[in-house]
Amino acid sequence: MQKELQNGAIWLDTNGNVIHAHGGYILEWKDFYYWYGENRLGDNYISCYRSHDLINWEFRNNVLTTRSATKIHRVRTDLKLSNEDGSKVNIERPKVLYNEKTGKFVMWMHMENGKDYSAAACAIAICDTPDGNFTYLGSFRPYGYMSRDCTLFKDVDNTAYFVSAARDNADLHIYRLSEDYLNVDALVNRLWQGEYREAPAIMRKGGTYYMFSSYCTGWDPNQCKFAVSDSMEGRWSILHKIGDSTTYQTQPAFIFKKSGQYYYFADRWNGKDYHDSRYVVLPIHFKSSGRPYMDYEEYFRP
Ligand code: DGJ
Repeated sequence: MQKELQNGAIWLDTNGNVIHAHGGYILEWKDFYYWYGENRLGDNYISCYRSHDLINWEFRNNVLTTRSATKIHRVRTDLKLSNEDGSKVNIERPKVLYNEKTGKFVMWMHMENGKDYSAAACAIAICDTPDGNFTYLGSFRPYGYMSRDCTLFKDVDNTAYFVSAARDNADLHIYRLSEDYLNVDALVNRLWQGEYREAPAIMRKGGTYYMFSSYCTGWDPNQCKFAVSDSMEGRWSILHKIGDSTTYQTQPAFIFKKSGQYYYFADRWNGKDYHDSRYVVLPIHFKSSGRPYMDYEEYFRP
């Protein structure tokens, strides 16, 4: 059993294979943490690992692949999981929530055609179990808006939000989801007009919501910034810096809480060799004013 993970090193699963869960998300469900993320090898799109301790990760399944089942949905979507010429599409930043009302695990993600970023669509998939074969319900543009980097956030009353970069990444939209999480219900915020925010990650501490995000520089890291609000649907602050000028060479994937401690879970992308991209996890601390800060740490020891 491993006791810690070294930030930026190659992380292996319990079978000794390299963990591919980039741009990912962790869902806490029953006794386990489930980590979903991008795996672009072979026919894979999204892989799922699970762990009791966030350190030792058991590979569970390639939950979304080119061969995944598809199903027509009440939302009119594009169901293609590969292109006409047989090439793969591109699926990025998968996030999964459990829906209490329907008992389903619902994945939202960013979908592109695999050649460029012109599709700018979100996509959804659904499953009865956290690590089963997800059924693809297709891709679409919410209310017709472009939708690229994204995240999900579930509030304490189970209201869920999908956040994604719109208008060629210039603006960041917050959509409230329908009760079953299978459609957008309302566009509740259009944030930081013209400020080009990517990689959104959200946490709630007490009555305060924090959103971390990066600037838009491809695979290259940049200065992470955070903003606060007292409601997902209310007014958000302007952006404030957190971390150093490259955020320790990372970009946010999601924010995670364990035993009262919040963690910044990030990708350290390798733009020249995507599959050699690594992970960095840093504890988030708070000043008495409520302002979050983080410093680099060599090891992740939750
Ligand atoms: C930055 C995004 O955050 C990533 O998810 C990915 O889309 C890259 N850009 C592609 O350049």
